[in-house]
Amino acid sequence: MKNIVILISGGGSNMAAIVNAAKREGWADKWGARVAAVISNKADAKGLTWAKEQGIHTEVLDHKQFASREAFDTALTQCIDRFGIPDQPVLVLLAGFMRILTPGFVSHYDGHLVNIHPSLLPAFSGLNTHQRAIDAGCKFAGATVHQVTAELDHGPILAQAVVPVLASDTADTLAARVLTQEHLIYPQAVAQLLQR
Ligand code: GAR
Repeated sequence: MKNIVILISGGGSNMAAIVNAAKREGWADKWGARVAAVISNKADAKGLTWAKEQGIHTEVLDHKQFASREAFDTALTQCIDRFGIPDQPVLVLLAGFMRILTPGFVSHYDGHLVNIHPSLLPAFSGLNTHQRAIDAGCKFAGATVHQVTAELDHGPILAQAVVPVLASDTADTLAARVLTQEHLIYPQAVAQLLQR
């Protein structure tokens, strides 16, 4: 069995897309993979409610309770690793987890840590990606699933989706269009990783 832990900070729609794909496509039977836990750094993350309703174990680890980024990431590592299985590293999926990770955290999960970012990386790493794409006059925007390295929003690209930017777009309408594609490419990219 390969355990997946999903980290969220908010709505968790990418998390839900992954959980639903795992069920629909039978990841447990095909690859021995299951979503073992959802962890949030915010107690009020809406995605936690949905995950609980699905019978998935949830945890909250509030970063504000920790004196430093390192202390939080160490506690997060301990929390995640409780869902590990001997000789089977946990696959950690960042799904709208709005935290900058320490190099120690990233190296602990080297090769088993994946993120989705709402831009066509390497363009527009960081925040406010959709407004920045509109301001730059981009005709296309999109999302990227990538393996996480110590540098923010970098790392080997696993999948990308492209959407048009319309003249009438606001950051919100563009974000919504991109998000529908995120829900397709993130589960697909994870399924490809599990098949390796
Ligand atoms: C998604 O658009 C995701 O790409 C983005 O946050 C949103 C989370 O939505 N992630 C980042 O900006 C990470 N830098 P969700 O909670 O509904 O999945």
